[in-house]
Amino acid sequence: MPSALPLGDPAPPDGLLPAQALEGAPGRAFGLYVHIPFCAVRCGYCDFNTYTATELGGGASQDAYAGTAIAEVDFAAAVLQRSGVPARPLSTVFFGGGTPTLLPAADLARILTAAIAAWGLEPGAEVTTEANPDSVTPESLQLLADAGFTRVSFGMQSAVPHVLKVLDRTHTPSRVPQAVQWAREAGLAVSLDLIYGTPGESLADWRHSLETALSYGPDHISAYALIVEEGTKLAAQIRRGEVPGIDDDDHAAKYELADELMSAGGLSWYEVSNWSRTPEQACRHNLAYWRGDDWWGIGPGAHSHVGGVRWWNVKHPTAYANRLGSGLSPAAGRETLDSETRNVERVMLAARLNSGLEIASLGGLGDTGRHAVAGLIADGLVDPVAAFRGNLVLTLKGRLLADAVVRRILPD
Ligand SMILES: C[S@@+](CC[C@H](N)C(=O)[O-])C[C@H]1O[C@@H](n2cnc3c(N)ncnc32)[C@H](O)[C@@H]1O
Ligand code: SF4
Repeated sequence: MPSALPLGDPAPPDGLLPAQALEGAPGRAFGLYVHIPFCAVRCGYCDFNTYTATELGGGASQDAYAGTAIAEVDFAAAVLQRSGVPARPLSTVFFGGGTPTLLPAADLARILTAAIAAWGLEPGAEVTTEANPDSVTPESLQLLADAGFTRVSFGMQSAVPHVLKVLDRTHTPSRVPQAVQWAREAGLAVSLDLIYGTPGESLADWRHSLETALSYGPDHISAYALIVEEGTKLAAQIRRGEVPGIDDDDHAAKYELADELMSAGGLSWYEVSNWSRTPEQACRHNLAYWRGDDWWGIGPGAHSHVGGVRWWNVKHPTAYANRLGSGLSPAAGRETLDSETRNVERVMLAARLNSGLEIASLGGLGDTGRHAVAGLIADGLVDPVAAFRGNLVLTLKGRLLADAVVRRILPD
């Protein structure tokens, strides 16, 4: 089952934002996330807010979803305007899931067209969709490119059949290079998602997945350590001893191999789990999250953030559609972050980027942060040359221990 939402404060039914959301808005980028909450099958490790046809039952239908999402686009544009948030064109749009490409490409195009009509699109804006390799065709990718999509992120995960089987992935490995080629022919930039540390995956298996992914020449690769989420089929299989558990040393060795092969293949890290061929090919939508910009999240369970005000929608597609159908905000809860919490979040996110964290800005967190930097350099976790220039940038060892580094620079 998908994981639970945070509690937070009640969200107002009209969705209006408090004055805090307006402060500094012209200086922040504005992005749109569109959640498509459908999958053909649920992978055993995944607890994202997504539903198979059987799980949905007779409730919200996939056919009606584009219309419901467009209703939230219109609602969002009206709320931002009535709240007095200065109008900004979209810098980035990201369709994620679930499996966006399970919907007809024409539906995704309709949602994007409605968003562009509501806000406009900055010149050179990045418009991404996630896709499973087996849910695209040359025609559907061309339709997406014609509608304004610029980038596709394929869930490749692994090139090794026994690893894909443990992950419950349905695509055959040979489908990935085909999908990459079709995307390129349609003029789309290509990213690949990989997962490492799956039970039963050897270091040689992971090397093969990395080498295979790199051989397709993607512009960008995300490589995530497999997280065993509570309540998933995988967690139950591990608990019952049917598959081996996760090993931290194995994860570390695989991360180091990933960084070595990506660098050799011409991709550089820009966030702990993300590598791109050039800085321009980094995912600008995710960078905007990590830098604390503004975004509206469309769809059930989607999260939004405008100027330190954060809210999240009801999770179930039927409840979501019913709220919008009654002209009500689909938000289930919201919170207004104080400046200290925002500062802590800024540190946690910026420390994971290769652009780093300005050491002088740690002054706002008291002496803890500034004094900790010397210890982090001594322990080989922070780059001394960048630190000398006033910037905290993680070394390879630091990236392996990013959470521990952040704990050392934040006050107790
Ligand atoms: C939620 S999926 C959406 C895109 C598409 N459905 C797919 O699976 O590729 C985005 C990425 O999150 C990854 N993901 C989901 N659950 C994960 C977990 N427990 N640990 C690591 N990565 C996970 C997926 O493998 C995928 O690459
Ligand atoms: S296809 Fe993607 S979103 Fe759907 S269950 Fe699998 S990992 Fe989760």
